[in-house]
Amino acid sequence: MKVFKTVGLLQKKLMSIDKNRSIGFVPTMGALHKGHLSIVKKAKKENELVVVSVFVNPTQFDKADDLKSYPVTVDNDLKLLKEIHCDIVFIPSVEDVYPENVQSSNFDFDGLDKVMEGAFRDGHFDGVGTVVKRLFEIVEPTRAYFGEKDFQQLQVIKKMVKKDNIAVQIVPCEIYRENDGLAMSSRNTRLSEEQREEAPLIHQTLLNVKKLFSERDIKYLKKMVEDIFKSNDILELEYFEIANTSTLLSTNNKLPNINYRAFIAVFAGKVRLIDNIALN
Ligand code: PAJ
Repeated sequence: MKVFKTVGLLQKKLMSIDKNRSIGFVPTMGALHKGHLSIVKKAKKENELVVVSVFVNPTQFDKADDLKSYPVTVDNDLKLLKEIHCDIVFIPSVEDVYPENVQSSNFDFDGLDKVMEGAFRDGHFDGVGTVVKRLFEIVEPTRAYFGEKDFQQLQVIKKMVKKDNIAVQIVPCEIYRENDGLAMSSRNTRLSEEQREEAPLIHQTLLNVKKLFSERDIKYLKKMVEDIFKSNDILELEYFEIANTSTLLSTNNKLPNINYRAFIAVFAGKVRLIDNIALN
C-alpha cells in the first residue's frame, strides 16, 4: 500500500499506471470503520486499483465546533486499509485541495440539496460537491463508491456528475450495520452505554415502516414514528420523511410506479444519527 500526501506525488504515481487499468475511488473523511471498509472491499473486487482518500473537508461543516471535534485517527485508518490490501491512500492537506481559497462553489442540484440534511445543515452539499469534484479531477477514477448511509449525498453526487458531464461511474454501496441493526458510523463511539442500547430503535422503526408501507397511508406512518420517539426519553426525533427516491421530495400521498424511501435523523444527546431504508 502506498500513501501520498500531496496532489503532485499522487498524480505522478497515477500517470505511471497503464491507462487501461480501472481505478476505483473511495472518498472518506477518515475515522474509518467497518462500513467504510466494506466499500473499499467492493471497490477492490470491481477494479484493478483502489484509491482511498482521507480528508476532513472543512467546507462541508456548517458549524466550526463540528469540524474541530471530527475524529482524526490516521494511524489506525492506515492500519485498517493495509489489512484489506488497499493500493493507494491519499491524505492531502487543506492547501493542496483548496490552493486558492477554502470556499465552496455553488451548485444547482435541482433541489436535492434543499431538503432533509440540506435543510438542517446550511451549505453542506455545496461543500461536498466542491471537494468531490476536486478529488475526481485529481484521481480521475473509473468508478467512485458512495454509501447509501448518506443516501442524499449519493443522489447529489450523481446529479453533479450528470450535469457536469464527469466521466466516472457512481456506484452505490449498501448500508453496513452492527449486528443489532444500528448503521455503522464514526459517531456511534460517542454514544453512552445507555444511548447505544437504545439506538437500534432507529433501524427497527424503519423496518416497521417498511413492513406497513403497502397497507397504511403516509400520514399514519409519520404519526406512528413521531409517537415512538415521543415516548422515548433517550432518542429525540429531528425529522422523519417519506420521499420520492429520485427527487427526494417528501410526500403524504403514495403514487403508483414511484419508488419511495424513508429517511430519519435522531439525536441521542448531542450525537446526531441518520438512517434510511427503501420502502418499495
Ligand atoms: P465519510 O462520512 O467518511 O463517509 C465516506 C463514505 O462512507 C461515504 O460514501 C459514506 O456514505 C460511506 N459510509 C459511512 N458509513 C457507512 C455505512 N455504515 N455503510 C455504508 N457506507 C457508509 O461521506 C463523507 O465521508 C464525505 O462527505 C465525503 C464524501 C468523503 C466528502 O468529503
